[in-house]
Amino acid sequence: MELKIAVLPGDGIGPEISKEGVKVLDSIAERYHHTFKYEYGIIGAAAIDAVGDPFPEETMKLCLESDAILFSCVGDPRFDNNPTSKVRPEQGLLKMRKSLELYANIRPIATFKSLLSKSPLKEEVIEGADFVCVRELTGGMYFGKKFESDDKAYDTNVYSRHEIERILKVAYGYAQQRKKHLTVVDKANVLASSRLWRKVAQETAKEFPDVVTDYMFVDNASMRIIQDPRFFDVMVTENTFGDILTDEASVITGSMGLLPSASTGAKTPLFEPVHGSWPEAAGKNIANPIAQILSAAMLLEHFGLKEEGNEIREAVEASLEQNICTPDIQKKGMKAYSTEEVGEWISNYIKSK
Ligand code: IPM
Ligand code: MN
Repeated sequence: MELKIAVLPGDGIGPEISKEGVKVLDSIAERYHHTFKYEYGIIGAAAIDAVGDPFPEETMKLCLESDAILFSCVGDPRFDNNPTSKVRPEQGLLKMRKSLELYANIRPIATFKSLLSKSPLKEEVIEGADFVCVRELTGGMYFGKKFESDDKAYDTNVYSRHEIERILKVAYGYAQQRKKHLTVVDKANVLASSRLWRKVAQETAKEFPDVVTDYMFVDNASMRIIQDPRFFDVMVTENTFGDILTDEASVITGSMGLLPSASTGAKTPLFEPVHGSWPEAAGKNIANPIAQILSAAMLLEHFGLKEEGNEIREAVEASLEQNICTPDIQKKGMKAYSTEEVGEWISNYIKSK
């Protein structure tokens, strides 16, 4: 297969993990005789610094001309610590998601056997946890009308029936391929937007009688995720709740640095780690490249390259079993490997099979 991939390393640890993602894709291309062509684009603080725009027209053009986007992360403390800044790195990512209409963000959360001890949660609670969070990605407070002044500010949490229906359909699709259990997470006891979510969900549920649908308030869901993560099979929720719950869910696996995601919708699909840009670690060669590498696996699977995706997953698991781990997940007393070493090991494992 020939794929044109837009690579957007972004900020912080982005360039380092991006390199390892590409390295692993190259090893797949070599082994399976695919041709992956990469073109690099700027986004986030890197793009603000270069051209004053976190998602320049040129990057948009590159995305539209590509088959897929391999994104890393954006964010920079210069902007985090300056709430008056008019332009922010995160706007780049949001603009990309919105303009490509990538409304469905798929975030799989599963434990790795060899990392159970790295989670702050008890092994007997998390062992076997395996669920998918389907996060709505182009609506809600992220994109609703905003107002900001010195003594008052608001964000509006707007959702239309259409937006809710289409993300529910995606979530049901995943549930049908898995254990046929969908949990709709909302705050319908307080929020009007959530009441519309629940109403539309109750209607949509009738179209999927083979799937067991249940409804959970987001505060309760946040507790259930760490108390009994095996309860979940597929959960679907709005943009903001999904953002928060997936950071929380990452502690089940042991590190933020392990969670990949796929953002799909109308235009070029985007594959992005769940984690942020971790600026404190930038340039130190210590960031975990696995979320990026597994995002590359999701990219391949999106194009039907199942065996290739599996190959990456297998290589990642082998690296964990053999303790080829970055410091965030390395066990006490064992040598921690660098970002580059982990990527190299995984890519060599694929090539040597
Ligand atoms: C994520 C990130 C982004 C989000 C930020 C960087 C805008 O936290 O992908 O989860 O809030 O969606
Ligand atoms: Mn987030």
